Amino acid sequence: MKYGFSQRVRYMKSSAVRDILKVVNQGDVISFAGGLPDESLFPVEAVRQAFDKAITSGNKALQYGETEGVMELREKLSERMANKNIHRSPEDILVTSGSQQAIDLFSRIMFNPGDIILTENPTYLAALQVFDSYEARIIPVDADEDGMIEEDLEEKIIRFKPKCIYVVPTYSNPGGKVWSLERRKKLLKLAQKYHVVIFEDDPYGDIQFDQEDSPPSIASMDNNKFVMYTSTFSKTVVPAMRIGWIVGPHQIIRLMAQAKQATDLHTNSISQHALVHLLNDFNLDQHIQMIRQTYYERMLVMKGILDSVKNDQLSYMVPKGGMFFWVSMPSDVNTTELLKKAVDKGVAFVPGAPFYVSNPQENTMRLNFTNATPDLIKEGMERLVSVINENQYETIV
Ligand SMILES: Cc1ncc(COP(=O)(O)O)c(C=O)c1O
Repeated sequence: MKYGFSQRVRYMKSSAVRDILKVVNQGDVISFAGGLPDESLFPVEAVRQAFDKAITSGNKALQYGETEGVMELREKLSERMANKNIHRSPEDILVTSGSQQAIDLFSRIMFNPGDIILTENPTYLAALQVFDSYEARIIPVDADEDGMIEEDLEEKIIRFKPKCIYVVPTYSNPGGKVWSLERRKKLLKLAQKYHVVIFEDDPYGDIQFDQEDSPPSIASMDNNKFVMYTSTFSKTVVPAMRIGWIVGPHQIIRLMAQAKQATDLHTNSISQHALVHLLNDFNLDQHIQMIRQTYYERMLVMKGILDSVKNDQLSYMVPKGGMFFWVSMPSDVNTTELLKKAVDKGVAFVPGAPFYVSNPQENTMRLNFTNATPDLIKEGMERLVSVINENQYETIV
């Protein structure tokens, strides 16, 4: 049968990470591939009690709900964001099925085919998938470890007249980068000057390792005109609840809510009600402290092994938070090729190339350090180092 698919499917790509995950979930492979939190740290008892309570406190949690999200949850989100100096009213919050859906709904109402989005390069793969599926044109902006470079950003804003600048400025995926305060301010200033919307994607902001506060979110410096800000409970509670949210100018949120009506009517009611109970009854901030400490220790284990093979051909930045090391190998190494050998040896990572909008650096890889225990990290890294050695990249060993 020949199916008459829409033209749009030509732009839909399968996620390289998800494809790799299918392979690595088999057998004895230690995976540094997914961006997965550690399920042994999940607050299972608190989640169970929260769901119990949601189901037994009247039947609201089992009913259809408002598209914008359960009001009590939006009020709690408004309070939690206020603690981070993002002052937004519950009416300007849309609860979404993960922040992934926030990216999708925003794109649906903003982009016509050919519209321009400026991004970092590399950047979050699944955001690129969304932008591609709406046939938007993605233009990368030059950046260093502090964030986008102002001159290139301004030049590209003037030249391409983008509708949006998509950034993950705090413990980025994949780079593990934190934008400096100065670069955040410059980005906002340019967005204000040229009237471009910034889409700030912040799933990792809470997974912070150093005790000093990381720079404030871009949204906290905006007067709710230029910045859409999305975050999620996937990394701090459990991803399976699929609860994220987005805040921004009311006009945009209203249209996104309309788009959401057509997509799924509303985010899962039981999860939303359970989350309200969890936030009332469970000390989530204390739980987040525990996660930070545990992930920090795991990051140090991975760093220890990377340090032992580091030289001028193998480099990485030590992440200050988040879930990833972003490693650059010698320029003649193709990490997609290396992955096949690594999986044979029982270890997996994500090759860096799919995260690039253009000029993919084939010698890069992303390593996740949150999902495996310290012992498995050691074992997996030993396997990885031996794959690197066997491939005779002697210079780096
Ligand atoms: C940068 C970034 N944005 C958004 C998401 C989507 O998260 P979720 O839909 O689970 O909230 C992820 C998930 O890993 C991510 O890394």
